[in-house]
Amino acid sequence: HTVWLYAGVLGYLLGSVPFGYLLGRLRGVDVRRHGSGATGATNVARTLGLGPALLTVALDALKGFLAAYLGLRLGGEWGYAAAGLGAVLGHSWPAWLGFRGGKSVATGAGALLVLHPAAVGVAVLVAAAFIVPTRYVSLGSIAGTLALASWIAATAPLPHKLTAAIAGAIVLWRHRGNVQRLLAGTERRFGERAA
Ligand code: G3P
Repeated sequence: HTVWLYAGVLGYLLGSVPFGYLLGRLRGVDVRRHGSGATGATNVARTLGLGPALLTVALDALKGFLAAYLGLRLGGEWGYAAAGLGAVLGHSWPAWLGFRGGKSVATGAGALLVLHPAAVGVAVLVAAAFIVPTRYVSLGSIAGTLALASWIAATAPLPHKLTAAIAGAIVLWRHRGNVQRLLAGTERRFGERAA
């Protein structure tokens, strides 16, 4: 049965709706030309401000949630896993934007929220524990992703484990530039506006 394949494609299509980019375009700004160049809420915050950033994180999480929910209804556990992974791939590499998107933190969390709300809640707290004192969103995202992926790898059914491991690796890989900047001491802190 190939229903998981359809779920994956549906996930990709939903995940690739670039809300942060679209909110920028409404103001005549391509957020990919500013700050970190990512289309996610963190870069929207430094480029456009807090309001559009909150809207971006909510909509990006919602598309991940919707993709995973539809995948689950369509194809059970494997449909869920495929749609969630598809959404992460779509957000990070949207075909419509030359495959230059975001880092899939909010989208991945939204997808996992459908069946793992407690794990997502804990991961958000872990992320906040790093972000609040340092104002490095990337550092919190990395810590939260590691916490979430290991929780699910340890406790969830096989399809979830696979997606958590692959999606977690993608999110960490998408942060490689942030890691370099953190190590060099040049990472932008939350609240610093981008040129
Ligand atoms: O969720 C993305 C965040 O961890 C980093 O975003 O724009 O600072 O690379 P950015």
